[in-house]
Amino acid sequence: MRTIVWNEKQKSVEIIDQNALPLEYKTVNLLTYQDVVFAIQHMTVRGAPAIGVTGAYGMALAALHSTKTELDAMKAELHQVAQEIGNARPTAVNLWNLINHTLAYINQFDGHVDELKDHLLNLAHRLAEEDVETNVRLSKYGAELINDGDHIVHHCNTGALATVDYGTALGVIRMAHEQGKKIHVYVDETRPRLQGARLTAWELKQYGIPYDIITDSSSGHLMQMGLVDKVFFGADRVAMNGDVANKIGSYMLALAAVDNKIPVYSVFPVSTVDAEISSGKEIEIEQRDSREVLDITLGKEIVVPSGATAVNYAFDVTPNRLLTGLVTEHGVLYPPFFEKLDKIIREE
Ligand code: MRU
Repeated sequence: MRTIVWNEKQKSVEIIDQNALPLEYKTVNLLTYQDVVFAIQHMTVRGAPAIGVTGAYGMALAALHSTKTELDAMKAELHQVAQEIGNARPTAVNLWNLINHTLAYINQFDGHVDELKDHLLNLAHRLAEEDVETNVRLSKYGAELINDGDHIVHHCNTGALATVDYGTALGVIRMAHEQGKKIHVYVDETRPRLQGARLTAWELKQYGIPYDIITDSSSGHLMQMGLVDKVFFGADRVAMNGDVANKIGSYMLALAAVDNKIPVYSVFPVSTVDAEISSGKEIEIEQRDSREVLDITLGKEIVVPSGATAVNYAFDVTPNRLLTGLVTEHGVLYPPFFEKLDKIIREE
């Protein structure tokens, strides 16, 4: 399973349509950078690392279709495109981190425009490969935290679908399973878009890992009954002090875990760290359409009163004090996090 592939024949980015899963497995071809922006906004592709790499391919598509013949004019055009792609979703910093990486390459480039087109495509390919290698590496570190027989709560979807391949927090679980450990996963359904119930359950089924879907509010009760050993979730933006913005519900999950003395790990590649911010208070939290919350049918036509309103924050911030450790491709970091993250960022 690879979420993002380059289709050389069509000169397009081919992505798995995550809105269609699990009912239908189909791919969508993104032919232009505008297609990339649309796919990210509408969550056809989602998950912090996956949208970062799709954004880098968006830059390559913009260059490919550019009619500019002067290098400076093409560079100016690509800077504008970067704003459009980078602002498609606000919270996951991987998007801007990889766009900025691409812009840094563009800024120093001093050759022919056709060469720049080739180089940006190769850069996107390289970033895609690096994503997979990074995920395998961090999954090996994380799997050391999992014991045979563990019952794990997992939030949202952090698997192959949320990355180019293999996954982050779900990658850790997958690695432990591949190492022969017998584990069981409680899958938070993850309201309102149900990335857990739809996507994580679908992936776990492919890997043959036993699981049960739970409502997001169930984990505290399961913990009180002694049924949970560990909590793993991903990250969309990590501040330098180790505060983690992740899918809405992660904070309450961490609170329940700490109250029950259960370890909580956030798993992410270093491309999810925002070196510009020192605390989670500075993270912009995406608000999405209230219809995502209100569209509940429970087998009926509609269950909310007509005219009902909703607020729909897509992420929350788990303060570093609630996190047992951060799993990265450089190993597992334990608190205090600031200096450890700072050293990694400076050495990258
Ligand atoms: O809104 P989404 O589905 O893009 O949110 C995804 C998550 O919150 C994931 O847990 C996070 O991106 C980590 S993915 C490896």
